[in-house]
Amino acid sequence: MTQPMKPPEIISTERLTLRKPRMDDAAAVFASWAKYPEVTRFLTWRPHQDITQTESLMKKSIDGWDGDTNFRYLLEIKESGQLAGMIELRMEPSEMSFGYTGARDQWGKGYMTEAARAAIEWAFQQPNIQRVYATTDVENVPSQRVLEKAGMQREGLLLKESIHPNISDEPRDCYLYAIVK
Ligand SMILES: CC(C)(COP(=O)(O)OP(=O)(O)OC[C@H]1O[C@@H](n2cnc3c(N)ncnc32)[C@H](O)[C@@H]1OP(=O)(O)O)[C@@H](O)C(=O)NCCC(=O)NCCS
Repeated sequence: MTQPMKPPEIISTERLTLRKPRMDDAAAVFASWAKYPEVTRFLTWRPHQDITQTESLMKKSIDGWDGDTNFRYLLEIKESGQLAGMIELRMEPSEMSFGYTGARDQWGKGYMTEAARAAIEWAFQQPNIQRVYATTDVENVPSQRVLEKAGMQREGLLLKESIHPNISDEPRDCYLYAIVK
């Protein structure tokens, strides 16, 4: 089976440069979102207590680019150089999924929607990618809005899909969103 193409290291949108992370991004990532309980509330990881945890995240994110499946981008705001968040593209033979985290001070400005749209646009330029999907906690309304604004449809409810340890140790119900070519 044909493997999907590796995404480009830079994707440019109107207001953002989506780029491969660097180790020296760790301080900004820690200060902008990794340390905040309100950012990690619906995520699978706990807020970082110190920057060494964020450095490990950066290393893993950079190393991912040597593989075939997981590609994380930082969203750099063109106008200011500040970071608006991170988006991870996960490649499968005929599908792509993605997940994201936004910088706390940049929420509500449409940045993650802009990044998600660009990711979907790239994916649908790949001949073998027919479908793009994402899941989100049933209570994560801002995230659901991002997926809806990116043109995705809610396809279903996934019962006990994912543990979000900042809420509880019980697996949480999630919505499945998708868009097809
Ligand atoms: C989900 C998230 C990435 C959205 O990023 P963003 O750059 O703010 O996204 P957008 O600005 O494109 O859209 C956010 C939407 O949520 C809405 N929203 C709801 N509550 C909000 C809040 N407390 N702050 C900001 N926006 C909020 C906004 O109004 C907007 O919808 P609208 O355009 O219909 O008004 C961001 O909220 C975040 O980082 N959340 C924590 C991490 C997370 O949950 N990630 C997703 C896991 S599936």
